[in-house]
Amino acid sequence: MSRPLVVLGVTGGIAAYKSADLIRRLKEQDLDVQVITTKSALKFVGETTFAALSGHPVISDIWNNAHEVEHVNVAKKTDAIVVAPATADFLAHLAYGFANDVLLATLLVAKCPIILAPAMHTEMWENSATKENVATLRKRGFLVLDPAVGKLTGEDSGVGRLPDTTEIAQVVKQVINRKNANLGKDLVGLNVLISAGGTREAIDPIRFIGNRASGKQGVALALSALSRGAKVTLVGANLSVNVPAGVEFISANTAKEMQEQMQLRAGSADVVIMNAAVADYFIANPDSNKIKKKDDKLTIELDKTTDILSVLAESKPIKQYLVGFAAETTTDDDNLITSAKSKLGSKKADLIVGNKVSNSVGISSDENEVIMVTANEAVLLPKADKLLLADAMWDFIVKQLAKVGREEKSPVEPDLA
Ligand code: CTP
Repeated sequence: MSRPLVVLGVTGGIAAYKSADLIRRLKEQDLDVQVITTKSALKFVGETTFAALSGHPVISDIWNNAHEVEHVNVAKKTDAIVVAPATADFLAHLAYGFANDVLLATLLVAKCPIILAPAMHTEMWENSATKENVATLRKRGFLVLDPAVGKLTGEDSGVGRLPDTTEIAQVVKQVINRKNANLGKDLVGLNVLISAGGTREAIDPIRFIGNRASGKQGVALALSALSRGAKVTLVGANLSVNVPAGVEFISANTAKEMQEQMQLRAGSADVVIMNAAVADYFIANPDSNKIKKKDDKLTIELDKTTDILSVLAESKPIKQYLVGFAAETTTDDDNLITSAKSKLGSKKADLIVGNKVSNSVGISSDENEVIMVTANEAVLLPKADKLLLADAMWDFIVKQLAKVGREEKSPVEPDLA
């Protein structure tokens, strides 16, 4: 079977040199890559580099090979298009429907999913003209990845960097998987807030009380939601995996920090998922110096942390859908359902995902096995890779949103779904 085809659009920004690496990363995802550049992209990187890495001649001029009508042919056969980097100028042209170069013309013809990875100086990204253009494009169904924060072209740093190429490639692959399974973008217009990872509570400047959570399931939920069109914020504690490109990331490593960050953001979220393994107890006054080895026994006094899920439930906007997890070491489905039901009631969530934890499944492993428990039903999702399971969880949540009339805020053109 031939590999899915992705068009990599490259526009004229300094991050164009990273597009060469992105070709590699896309190929690692088992994708065939066709590069289309604007004229100014070629001022940064030569065609030879793109052609050699992709294995295809570069399309850079609408007047070349006119008899083949390349922009139409390629747009019709590609599975997805990713423009990385997308400059402010390019976003403006696209938002206004210009087709005055081969890349813009291709995008105007395409009916496949389109992912845009903007990269520019902070001032340009934050300029209200760019903001309006990005909002317009998102409303039309384009998946616009928020740029990363870090060093920019000159001495300055801030928001505006091209996200990590490996993470862009993962998003592209996920979007193509959904498209090829005939699944649409059912979270467009929704704000999703997810907590992930495991908190750590300081004992002294060197030691902490923590847990084995890696953040893999929360990150998978974030990637899945992003590919379905949501605006995703991830509040992460001590993650051992990378955050997907385009997801807004907030670091919160202790239970207290996580509570603050979640409370700050939950009010504007349509769906909140408390996936993080939050410490139940913490040390109110951690030692400011390293605790020395003295007696045979050491007693540390622990205080209860605030239950973040319960607090979020108390102040939850009426239309918000609130999801919690229940991590249990049982192997018995009925026990898991009982425990999830009890947490559903005590924490007042809309859904509790009962999560089996053992050496081979759940916390820190690549696979998970869960039971989705609401007031009316319990649905088992058998053991599977965490990304596949994240998709299945979203399928379930989307159905629940539709039942209570909390689905999509602003439907998009189906062509780009
Ligand atoms: N949770 C939370 N704040 C805490 C502890 C847990 O918000 N301080 C959330 C978790 O993110 C999860 C849910 O509550 O969504 C259940 O967490 P879990 O650890 O399974 O249960 P606990 O409430 O901690 O109860 P127990 O440890 O006794 O099972």
